[in-house]
Amino acid sequence: MSEKPHFVVVANRLPVDRIVAENGDVAWGTSPGGLVTALEPVMRSQGGAWVGWHGAPDEEVAPFEHDGYDVVPVPLSALEVEEYYEGFSNSTLWPLYHDTVAFPEFHREWWDAYRTVNRRFAETTAELAAEGATVWVQDYQLQLVPKMLRELRPDLRIGFFLHIPFPPTEIFSQLPWRREILEGLTGADLVGLQVSGAASNFLRLARTYLGHRVEKGAVHLPDGRTCRAHAYPIAIDTQGFADLAASPEVIAEAEAMLDDLGHPDLLLLGVDRLDYTKGLRQRLQALGELFAEGQLDPSKVVFLQVATPSRERVEEYRKLRDDIDLLVGRINSEFSGLRRSPIVYRHAGFPRHTMAAMYRIADVMVVTPLRDGMNLVAKEYVACRPDDTGALVLSEFAGAAKELRQAYQVNPYDLNGMKDVIMQAATDSPSASRRRMRSLKRQVAGHTIDMWADAFLGDLAGPDA
Ligand code: ADP
Ligand code: F6P
Repeated sequence: MSEKPHFVVVANRLPVDRIVAENGDVAWGTSPGGLVTALEPVMRSQGGAWVGWHGAPDEEVAPFEHDGYDVVPVPLSALEVEEYYEGFSNSTLWPLYHDTVAFPEFHREWWDAYRTVNRRFAETTAELAAEGATVWVQDYQLQLVPKMLRELRPDLRIGFFLHIPFPPTEIFSQLPWRREILEGLTGADLVGLQVSGAASNFLRLARTYLGHRVEKGAVHLPDGRTCRAHAYPIAIDTQGFADLAASPEVIAEAEAMLDDLGHPDLLLLGVDRLDYTKGLRQRLQALGELFAEGQLDPSKVVFLQVATPSRERVEEYRKLRDDIDLLVGRINSEFSGLRRSPIVYRHAGFPRHTMAAMYRIADVMVVTPLRDGMNLVAKEYVACRPDDTGALVLSEFAGAAKELRQAYQVNPYDLNGMKDVIMQAATDSPSASRRRMRSLKRQVAGHTIDMWADAFLGDLAGPDA
């Protein structure tokens, strides 16, 4: 490794995942999720170090270089994966922060593991960072790190960004460790959130549970420090996606895909991690009813859904997988012709170029989360459209809905409403739909991941409140 880094990103996941096969073979793959999609280009241009878990339990991996920056793996034991990652992060905080769309579980031993692992991330970073470095801590898995790190290294400039929603008082208050989480976060100089409502929630809660003065978007701590909080809606490498989608290889892949799908009159697309927050059950129910009612002709329409496997050992995710298999099977068994099924479903992750090919050929992109911090898939679809055609159906409960105003917005809890909007998106006049897509394209081109990082890091480097 080179000399001590002046810029360090700390996230639960590294950009690459170590996959150990049953025969012991080791391979590295791109890690799932929006955090990695967003931060990878930032790291490529900033350089520095990325501290995170490499995705395999009980394995120590030495630091290495990747795409021009240092990767510093933090080990997790199998028990920590169970209690810190699958437990507190993904069975307590994840459902709690997503409107309790699944029931959050509270277990004291999970909390203990969360603290222990957060301390390990803080200690690793404290040892690594150069004097006066900027450290950017990411997401709900590491909310205690800012305070722990400040105690170890008061010389650092510490930022925190939450990729998922920050809940209102009524929901956050359920958390038995609400004070500790807020204390952890206020260890940062700047807390970034996806939307302004989340920033207000955080500031209100800091006042309520920590008793600190909150003024002009900042928490004023008793030691004279301030912790500012502000919305920085995350974005994508718009040009990178557009260039990829316009490449001859992707155009050829898109053509081959259309051949495989039998050139349907209408292609609808869903792209998600297989997560219960993404509204897949509701989406499939709506489409099933549209097929049943004949509003969509199952012999001429295809709904392509790809879902990356995610958190597969967590019970709610297992249940979801079974439910989706069942729903897809039911709809297809009812409406398939002998040669073609109306739903093509793949439970798999695909390389970026294949995603770009899918976005290129989809007439209607269906993004229907019950709650989502941002949703980058919606932005990727817009960026990959080669012209002003295509329609984006977008849940009003995704952070992206605040920016992508011209999407066909839906309430995924309202099945009839969602069916109507899907049909509107599928049948709108070309001029109406082009007007919308043009506006979406302007938005996505004008708010890129570089701008997002510059805005956050500029404010972090700027004066305190
Ligand atoms: P989240 O962070 O909750 O997973 P986002 O929509 O913000 O949701 O980001 C998801 C990211 O994962 C996007 O970059 C998207 O392209 C990628 N992705 C989602 N599904 C797949 C898939 N089946 N194969 C490959 N990439 C996927
Ligand atoms: O953006 C939300 C997020 O949970 C990230 O923090 C995470 O890296 C990604 O989605 C994928 O989830 P996981 O790391 O649990 O596979």
